[in-house]
Amino acid sequence: MIVEPKVREYICTTAHPAGCEENVKEQIQYVKEKGRMDGPKKVLVIGASTGYGLASRITAAFGCGASTLGIMFEKPSNGKRTATPGWYNTAAFEKAAKNEGLYARSVNGDAFSKEIKEKTIDIIRKDLGKVDMVIYSLAAPRRTTLDGTVYSSVLRTTGRPFTNKSLDLRNNTIGEKTVEPATPEEMEGTIKVMGGEDWKDWIEALTRADVMEKGAVTVAYSYIGPALTYPMYSDGTIGQAKKHLMHTAVELNREYPGVSAYISVNKALVTQASSAIPIVPLYFAILYKVMKEQGNHEGCIQQITRLFHDKLLTDPVNMDEEYKIRMDDWELKPEIQEEVMRCWENITTENVEELSDIKGYWEDFYHMFGFHFDNIDYSQDVDIEVPIPSLE
Ligand code: NAI
Repeated sequence: MIVEPKVREYICTTAHPAGCEENVKEQIQYVKEKGRMDGPKKVLVIGASTGYGLASRITAAFGCGASTLGIMFEKPSNGKRTATPGWYNTAAFEKAAKNEGLYARSVNGDAFSKEIKEKTIDIIRKDLGKVDMVIYSLAAPRRTTLDGTVYSSVLRTTGRPFTNKSLDLRNNTIGEKTVEPATPEEMEGTIKVMGGEDWKDWIEALTRADVMEKGAVTVAYSYIGPALTYPMYSDGTIGQAKKHLMHTAVELNREYPGVSAYISVNKALVTQASSAIPIVPLYFAILYKVMKEQGNHEGCIQQITRLFHDKLLTDPVNMDEEYKIRMDDWELKPEIQEEVMRCWENITTENVEELSDIKGYWEDFYHMFGFHFDNIDYSQDVDIEVPIPSLE
C-alpha cells in the first residue's frame, strides 16, 4: 500500500511503517553517538511507544544496554488502515534491540487496568526477576478505575475563561481562542487520569509482588512552562493533575523506602499528546525558533539522553526541592523567554513564518507519524501489517 499522511487539525490518521522505523533508527543513532552510560539494567517503561516514553526506552536500551519491557496502548493495522505510529515504532525498536542482543518485550493494553499490571508483573518475574528502573510516561485521554468508573482528562482552565492568540493548525493562521474553565467533575477527572494515583498503584503493585530491586528508581514526566502558558497549562486542569503527580513523588519516597522517585520536568515538545492542547502549539512554534536560533533546541531523545547523562545517573541525582529534575532549564532561561514574549506579542498571520518556526513544528508533527523523512521513498508500496515480535 502507498501510505500518505491524512491530517485533521492536530492529528494524523495514518502512519508510515518505514518512516516510523527511520524515526526510531535516528533516535538510536543519536543515543549511541552520545556514548555508553553506566545505568539501569532492567527497565520498565509505562507509555513506551511514542514521545518521551519511547525516547526513554531507546536511551535505556542503547545508552545503558538495558533490557526493556514497554507498556503501550496502540492499534495494529487491520489490513486496510495503517497501525498507529506507536505500533510501528515498537516493532522497529524490538527489531533493532534484537539485532544487538538486547532483551525487549512489549505489552499492548490499558496500563490503568489490574490485568495489565498483573501481566507485566508475571513477565518481569519470568524474564527479568526484578526491575531497577520504572519510567512512567503515560499521556491518556481517559482512565477506567477498578470500580468501573470512567474518568476523562480535559484541557481547560480553572476559575475563569482565558483568551489569547492561537495558531490555527488547519491553515497556519493566527487567531484568538478562548478556553473555558472546567467544571469540578472535569477537574477531578483530569487529576484521576493524569495525576499520580496510577503511578502509585504501579509502584505499590510492583513492590508488593517483590519485583522492584532495592534502590530502584522511578521517574514520571511533567511540565511547568512559562507564565505565558500558566492559565492554560500550569494553572489549568492538566497543571492540577501535574501538581498531584509531584505530591505523589514525595509520597512514594516517604512510603517506599527502597524506591527513589523523581519527577523530570521536561521541555515543551510536539508529541501526539501535546499538540492537542489549545493555545500551546503557538508557544511551541515560537519556542522552537528561539531555541534553534540560540543553539539549544532539543527533541525528546536529546532531552532524555541529557536527563540520563547529566542529571539522573549522576551521584547525587541532580534535582531541586521535592525530587524535581529540571530538564526545562534551557527552555526557561530568561534570554529564551524574553525573546519568546517579544515574538508572541508581535506575531500575526502575515509574519508567522518569520516569528515562529512553523516549518519545524510541522516537521516534528509529520515525523511523529513517519512522514517527511528525506531518505524514505513514499511512492513505494509498503506492507502496513507489521508484527511486533514479542506480541506474536
Ligand atoms: P505521547 O502521546 O507521545 O505518549 C503517550 C504514551 O502513553 C504512548 O506510549 C501511549 O501508547 C501510552 N498510553 C496512552 N494511554 C495508555 C493506556 N491507557 N495504557 C497504556 N499506555 C497508554 O505523549 P508524551 O508527550 O510523550 O507524554 C508523556 C508524558 O510526558 C506525559 O506525562 C506528559 O504530560 C509529559 N510531558 C510532555 C511534554 C510535551 O511537551 N510533550 C512536556 C513535558 C512533559
